[in-house]
Amino acid sequence: MLIAAELKNLLEPTQLVDFDVTWIAASDQTPKGEWVAIVPLLSRWVGGTEFKNLPRLRIVANCAVGYNNVDLVAAEMRNVLVTNTPGVLTEATADLTWALILATARRLVEGVDLVRSGRWTGWHPEQLLGLELRGRTLGLLGAGRIGRAVGRRALPFGLRILYVARTPKPEFERDTGARRVDTSQLFAESDILSVHVPSTPETKGMINGETLARMKRGAILINTSRGDVVREEALAMALELGQLGAAGLDVYTDEPRIHPRLLAAPRTVLLPHIGSATEETRRKMATMAIANVQSVLGGQPPLTPVY
Ligand code: NAP
Ligand code: GLV
Repeated sequence: MLIAAELKNLLEPTQLVDFDVTWIAASDQTPKGEWVAIVPLLSRWVGGTEFKNLPRLRIVANCAVGYNNVDLVAAEMRNVLVTNTPGVLTEATADLTWALILATARRLVEGVDLVRSGRWTGWHPEQLLGLELRGRTLGLLGAGRIGRAVGRRALPFGLRILYVARTPKPEFERDTGARRVDTSQLFAESDILSVHVPSTPETKGMINGETLARMKRGAILINTSRGDVVREEALAMALELGQLGAAGLDVYTDEPRIHPRLLAAPRTVLLPHIGSATEETRRKMATMAIANVQSVLGGQPPLTPVY
């Protein structure tokens, strides 16, 4: 099987004893050949050409919960299974989302920059005033595993929770007091809007000039899902105009490139796609991907299929 070389240190050698492994670095093209399984990083596109070049492929075991780097239609046409790593990264990603919420609301990066620059002249009652969380509204665009974990963390901060999802979440509503609304209400009422929908044809560009204009002046946008759910130029403009108060982003449309206007925009906290980046979580993700391969090659159903 083909495995992303960057996963090597996260796997125990015992997990691979049954396999003939070829390691592929992120900078390598996906090779042509007789491999039956591939464990790619989320940055590797696996589509029609790759399926054609890997005629014996049986499974793409993506090492991520998001799988927008895999052409599902092409996979299904070729009878190739696709799996992901749901659940094991939920808490780590929700924690990181909260790091962005707090960093944007309380202007952490501006504070750090001020101290490091040597321009800080001492305590001032009006210096770097941020957004008080208690009593504000947190909007969750997507209330799946990660969206709900972010919502659960909002309770001790005293936030009201609104959410959008395709299906209602009665247990989440009961536990947190969250209310399911339509997207118009979500955009209009959120002080902090946190994006947790996957990248799909329906969600691409959901946050655009028109939807940003419907948000409260000074609201905060957080995105730890996928970059292409947000139109980056429109977001940069909203920040430049002061219409949006701040943005905390972990993901971008064309990673690792960041839209230059967004890079230059004020009041941003920009992270390098580290939502699931804890030692424990990354090990669990790699282990789950390999376990999916093991199951399928052993004649069993995949553990976590995406369709
Ligand atoms: P999930 O459990 O599948 O949740 C997705 C949520 O989005 C669900 O609530 C779903 O609604 C909702 N949704 C999907 N399509 C929608 C649409 N068209 N309109 C409205 N709601 C829609 O996924 P998850 O495990 O929470 O992960 C979410 C995403 O986070 C992943 O797809 C991935 O891209 C991203 N992620 C990023 C990082 C990072 O490092 N930054 C780490 C992990 C994950 P239903 O509940 O009704 O189905
Ligand atoms: C990370 O972005 C993931 O989808 O797991």
